[in-house]
Amino acid sequence: MNIIIMGPPGAGKGTQADFIKEAFPIPHISTGDMFREAVAKESAMGLEAKKYMDAGQLVPDDVTIGVVEERLSQPDCKKGFLLDGFPRTIPQAEALDKVLAKLGTRVEVALNIAVPDQVLFDRMAGRVSCSNCKTVYNVKFNPPAKEGVCDKCGGELIQRSDDNADTVRNRLDVYNRQTQPLIEYYEKQGTLKTVDGNRDPEDVFRDIKRILESL
Ligand code: AP5
Ligand code: MG
Ligand code: ZN
Repeated sequence: MNIIIMGPPGAGKGTQADFIKEAFPIPHISTGDMFREAVAKESAMGLEAKKYMDAGQLVPDDVTIGVVEERLSQPDCKKGFLLDGFPRTIPQAEALDKVLAKLGTRVEVALNIAVPDQVLFDRMAGRVSCSNCKTVYNVKFNPPAKEGVCDKCGGELIQRSDDNADTVRNRLDVYNRQTQPLIEYYEKQGTLKTVDGNRDPEDVFRDIKRILESL
């Protein structure tokens, strides 16, 4: 099961990835989470990535492709994987196809979560996530039982530094210019499945589950 989950910032990729990995035991590979971990560790790659993330820009393709190639070569990806937030440019998509072909496999489904822009702004303004297990909440739409504390592990809930209004505007703009063309790329491959993401998370997942069960 080789799955890509895509959609604009705030569409619910991470939220749906949590549901997917509970129902289907495959590794969840989020390039955003990997970069945030590298930033927290202050590695050379993390310090480089931070400059782009804080500006709402994409980390350069060569860095990002290298990180994903290395991750996909690990043994746990043999049974499949869920890529969240990668690819985000045509060169990344082409690189992924090449790597998978070398491994004798391919992308089976590209899930595209569609959500209108105004809704995205509201979602990112209210997002908090667990500093420990990365579970995502929303103070308005999906609050934790106790303010500031993760329901699952008791970890501290924090806001992402790129969720301020200015950076969010840049991220949406970058999405429209650089990532949107991937919809056509996967449509041509015959792997694109678009789901309406402007509903309750459980309803969105019901559609996704149906798609994945039919693979
Ligand atoms: P990344 O971490 O991937 O951020 P993003 O794409 O901007 O997406 P988000 O994580 O913000 O949104 P999401 O779709 O996961 O939504 P979520 O489920 O959290 O990337 C960050 C940065 O890293 C990039 O800007 C770039 O610099 C760099 N980067 C990463 N990958 C890269 C790549 N491939 N190439 C180059 N650079 C890269 O939900 C959002 C909120 O809404 C939450 O509060 C949630 O609770 C709520 N919510 C979710 N679903 C619903 C619903 N159905 N109804 C109501 N609320 C909902
Ligand atoms: Mg995410
Ligand atoms: Zn947690």
